[in-house]
Amino acid sequence: MIRVEGLRKNFGKASNAVGAVNGVSFEVPAGSLVSLLGPSGCGKTTTLRMIAGLERPTAGRLVIDGELAFGDAENVFVPVNRRAIGMVFQSYAIWPHMTVEQNVGYPLRVVRPRLPKSEQKERVAEALDLVGLGAYAARSATALSGGQQQRVALARALVRRPKILLLDEPLSNLDAELRDRMRDEIRQLQQQLGITTVFVTHDQAEALAISDQVIVMDQGRLVESGTPEEVYRRPTSHVTARFLGLSNRLRGEVVAVGEGTVRVRLGDSTLEVATPVAVPTGSPTVVAIRPSGLRIDRRRISADSWPGTVERGIFRGDAWDYAVKLGAATVFVRSYDLDARLQPGEAVFVEARPGAAILVEDLVADESRG
Ligand SMILES: Nc1ncnc2c1ncn2[C@@H]1O[C@H](COP(=O)(O)OP(=O)(O)OP(=O)(O)O)[C@@H](O)[C@H]1O
Ligand SMILES: [Mg+2]
Repeated sequence: MIRVEGLRKNFGKASNAVGAVNGVSFEVPAGSLVSLLGPSGCGKTTTLRMIAGLERPTAGRLVIDGELAFGDAENVFVPVNRRAIGMVFQSYAIWPHMTVEQNVGYPLRVVRPRLPKSEQKERVAEALDLVGLGAYAARSATALSGGQQQRVALARALVRRPKILLLDEPLSNLDAELRDRMRDEIRQLQQQLGITTVFVTHDQAEALAISDQVIVMDQGRLVESGTPEEVYRRPTSHVTARFLGLSNRLRGEVVAVGEGTVRVRLGDSTLEVATPVAVPTGSPTVVAIRPSGLRIDRRRISADSWPGTVERGIFRGDAWDYAVKLGAATVFVRSYDLDARLQPGEAVFVEARPGAAILVEDLVADESRG
């Protein structure tokens, strides 16, 4: 288990310090995979490097596998080489002048106390087998594809049989197809070995697919956390909503309050909207909805559909995304009906799919900020 308590990192001198991580707390249960998701510069790498011991925190506490690894009050800082942690960096840093075997065995050559040669050899073979590279041991590391190099980096992180694995955007250098495959392989391996893992990414699909828990970060803070389904279906923060594709925002007014839902007037019709927070009748509000949460048709779909005009279509391969003008607002609607191709200027009707609209607590404030 990893326990992060009020962890902070300020870079630079105290007088003009930049807060890269501003007090984050979370737990990674033993054997589970937690991802840190958030925009560039939000502090993901810094958090990971503090867990690894590569960066000394400014304040807070860090307990790894029951042992205090950092505590500012206790004045404890366990250095990186004394933490049983495997790590894969964004640029996976394979040494080109070494063979695959030498790359993977490197952490064993620097760790103290040193293992006997025969045991080192065994561990390297075991790690290479785990990532399916058993046959490549003697290859020069440069004579490998990107995906194979990625596996070498993973094997190198696993060779010390660490209890903790830290992965910083390990798939970002791979093409889309390979990225999906490696993602699933990492997840399988992680579950098979029961290894406690923190996975950093700014890719929402990756975080949803691979994690037991997703932690959303913004500006050095933890915004929210939950299972992939929770953060995707019921985000409580506008940061998460923005990051997880709830790109349509519609301004309306709460006209009735139900159990976990409210009825919101949007233009001439009303819409039932799920809400995690209590909102009184009469409040102005902002409703968030994904393009895939809207339906579009040439005919009026129901009494609650809004009339609009197609502005343009964007081809997505498996779908069309239509920008549709609804009164003063423009929304994006995803249509998987590739045959019913709508043209700019066409009059259409749009409605929300049941359960697709969400009320996000701080969206009103976020919209007012612009
Ligand atoms: N060594 C450093 N010295 C000064 N500032 C730093 C240092 N490392 C990171 N920062 C700053 O700390 C903040 C967080 O950086 P960090 O690398 O943790 O972000 P990130 O979430 O990993 O971003 P990305 O997705 O772009 O990798 C940024 O504003 C960054 O500029
Ligand atoms: Mg980073």
